[in-house]
Amino acid sequence: MLYASLVISLILLLVVNWIVARSEHPVPGAVFCCLGFALGPGCLMVIFPAVMWQAGLLSVSLLILSVPRRGKRLYRPLSCVVTLIAYSILIHDILKTQHEFAELRLQFPYESLEGRLPTRPIREGPLLSDPMRLENLESKIEREVWYPSRADSLQRLHEHSVDQFVNSAGFGIGRMGFSTPRIDAESLKGADADTPPVPQPDYFDPAVDSAGAAHRDISLWDGPKIGRIHELAVIDFVNPRGFGFTKDRQHVAGFQQHRMTKSPDPSDPWKVARIDLISLLLHESPLAYVSTDLPRMNELRTAPTRPLDAFEEEGLKSLRVGEDLYARGTGEKARMVGAIRATKQCLGCHGGGRGDLLGAFSYGLRSEGR
Ligand code: HEC
Repeated sequence: MLYASLVISLILLLVVNWIVARSEHPVPGAVFCCLGFALGPGCLMVIFPAVMWQAGLLSVSLLILSVPRRGKRLYRPLSCVVTLIAYSILIHDILKTQHEFAELRLQFPYESLEGRLPTRPIREGPLLSDPMRLENLESKIEREVWYPSRADSLQRLHEHSVDQFVNSAGFGIGRMGFSTPRIDAESLKGADADTPPVPQPDYFDPAVDSAGAAHRDISLWDGPKIGRIHELAVIDFVNPRGFGFTKDRQHVAGFQQHRMTKSPDPSDPWKVARIDLISLLLHESPLAYVSTDLPRMNELRTAPTRPLDAFEEEGLKSLRVGEDLYARGTGEKARMVGAIRATKQCLGCHGGGRGDLLGAFSYGLRSEGR
């Protein structure tokens, strides 16, 4: 945009000076020309503020032509000076914006996630009973981060500050991709940076309350409903808008922890009573975090843990051979283990491949009205 604006300004400067030098009565022609240059680009849905300022100032400068004899000669240097003034006004604004960007870079700096994630490979081979389900989840996560993309804004903030200057709105504001969306603190904030912890809806200890493997497979009659509960829980937990921009694992800007913000209760009759996160990455062997709140990583990193019980062991075995849900229960109570698999959006930080099992949720469910 800067280059386009400069070229247009140069042409305007030459044309106006040519009119002034050649014409007996240059004022109407010069004003018409200025108007054309200022407003013409609008027909293409582009506005060049610097050119508009320049055109305005060039028109006003025509007053100098009324100076006897020397008017025409004086117009040439004056037109150059006002062009410079037009650009200085905008450069001042743009430098102010650059200063704001520098502050935003401090607020959302690159940080390394190396120490927070295991370096060992987490691969066992993609064993997915239903690849479509993974694709479906990927497109839902994609939709969460789509527009305005926080990752894009953070990337531009850190990686393209020169482009940012050249494309600054001050030099040209266009539709249809001519200029890029504005970056400000609001667009970088993320979904809900400071949501408070959410208590487990109805906490009970799975070891004491063990609606276990002896019961029937509830997915046989309520598969889509309990599948939906798990899908909502995973999308809420991973917090797609909180991914920020990942250049590589040592350079991640604006990452906000995985955390749940609400209990996923989309469908009668099943209500979530508790959700425990089963850790597969941060500990040597699988275990479950114990918390009276719905899972949030800030808290869980230092939370107490417990070994998996028999139901969860059984469930995990089933997830490891490609299932996504393992659910057993009676009409009123059920337990479920759901796979948290890597989608393509997770790989920048977690490594490995699509479909890898990164963790699991262990649910206690209650059915109302049956
Ligand atoms: C921008 C980096 C980043 C992205 C993207 C990311 N994660 Fe994470 N994830 C982390 C970090 C870092 C941790 C470790 C906990 C912490 O420090 O907050 C983690 C922890 C986890 C855990 C808990 C591991 C344990 O053993 O306790 C799970 C499960 C998880 N991530 C799943 C996912 C899934 C699924 C996706 C993609 C849909 C994803 N993550 C995308 C950075 C990321």
